Amino acid sequence: MTQQALIEELTALVAPAKVLTDPASLETYGKDWTKQFIPAPLAIVLPRSTEQVQAIVHWANRHRIGLVPSGGRTGLSAAAVASNGELVVSFEAMNQVLAVNTTDRTVVCQPGVITRQLQDLAADHGLYYPVDFASSGSSQIGGNIGTNAGGIKVIRYGMTRNWVAGLKVVTGKGDLLELNKDLLKNATGYDLRQLFIGAEGTLGFVVEATMRLERAPKNLTAMVLGAVDFDSIMPVLHAFHGKLDLTAFEFFSHASMAKVLARGDVPAPFDTQCPFYALLEFEASTDELANQALATFEHCVEQGWVLDGVMSQSEQQLRNLWKLREYISETISHFTPYKNDISVTVSKVPAFLKEIDAIVAQHYPDFEVLWYGHIGDGNLHLNILKPEAMDKQAFFDTCARVNTWVFETVQKYNGSISAEHGVGMTKRDYLAYSRSPAEIEYMKAVKAAFDPNGIMNPGKIFAL
Ligand code: MLT
Ligand code: ZN
Repeated sequence: MTQQALIEELTALVAPAKVLTDPASLETYGKDWTKQFIPAPLAIVLPRSTEQVQAIVHWANRHRIGLVPSGGRTGLSAAAVASNGELVVSFEAMNQVLAVNTTDRTVVCQPGVITRQLQDLAADHGLYYPVDFASSGSSQIGGNIGTNAGGIKVIRYGMTRNWVAGLKVVTGKGDLLELNKDLLKNATGYDLRQLFIGAEGTLGFVVEATMRLERAPKNLTAMVLGAVDFDSIMPVLHAFHGKLDLTAFEFFSHASMAKVLARGDVPAPFDTQCPFYALLEFEASTDELANQALATFEHCVEQGWVLDGVMSQSEQQLRNLWKLREYISETISHFTPYKNDISVTVSKVPAFLKEIDAIVAQHYPDFEVLWYGHIGDGNLHLNILKPEAMDKQAFFDTCARVNTWVFETVQKYNGSISAEHGVGMTKRDYLAYSRSPAEIEYMKAVKAAFDPNGIMNPGKIFAL
């Protein structure tokens, strides 16, 4: 069948849903925020119903055409990139909230619901959807589930996985499965719902998700503390952890913050320049808790870990302090960064950091290196910036060579090569640093069970 005939057949099958083939749509929908791959999709389809998604999957099986799911396209591992003639299935038109249940504290969402929309809806009901990150204004629930998105509140609330009460999925065979039926307790064997969370669309597509909500936090208050050096950040975390129920504990280097300050629209936290900063957040629900935070800050200064600090006194100050951390990713995206998203258990962070820092200093002497991340979760974002004059491919090739040392260290510490961004295409060649050969074989067997023809997001997680 010719490409033209395939598209005509698909168009007839899903009508009145749209199938797009114009160059601008192929370029836009064919990629996520990663910059290593060139989009080259066959077409884009925007289904409006579960039945249409099933029809698309059956069509793809008949013609052995790969399907790439597409949400807000904010991913950072090229899991939503169609660079090999695949059909992109955008969930943009399946964007409705179907039900809110305040007794169960759940919301039934179509996959295209924007994360911020869910957060706002929860707030309208006096509740809280706690998974949050800088891209929550454009990322979609389906994509969050596909990548088991983490973000800035994991230390208290965990990853997206913790908030999925139930899923409806269309498998790679075209079957519709209703997983867990929103139950809190369900001891009836394998929890297939969990397999689809973080599977990057390689087993099937989420067509409906029931998300849990939480009690709204009271008087969230942030502190930014200037640390004396890299080694001082973890003792600061332990000091605060012992005293307060933290909702966030992030860090960033001065070089990272300097990029945000250079925009000119975010105020500096204080005048003292420090090599690293910690941003922590807690519920100052009583004066006693706020005083406890200040006393712990003073203790950290006395110990010689912290040079300066500030505590938010208003919603506006809270937002401004968060901008110092949350704006980093978008601000540095213009420097074509090579991104690392690595993790170890929190107790191993100090030793791990030292080794990685030494590797980076040795192998990237000529590149600007930026550190930031969710250090309270053991998750570090190491970004290498491309020198302006350097060719993109040569830069990525150089960085990929250094990966060997970084990932060997990750492996030595039993860590993860991708804490939250996912494997996609950018990390698939390195999977064996975090997963054993036997584990990878079982993972492939799981994929074969749900997607025997290998049409669901081919080339993601595993090489083709
Ligand atoms: C973040 O923590 O800012 C996000 O994971 C994005 C990034 O790593 O750049
Ligand atoms: Zn992150």
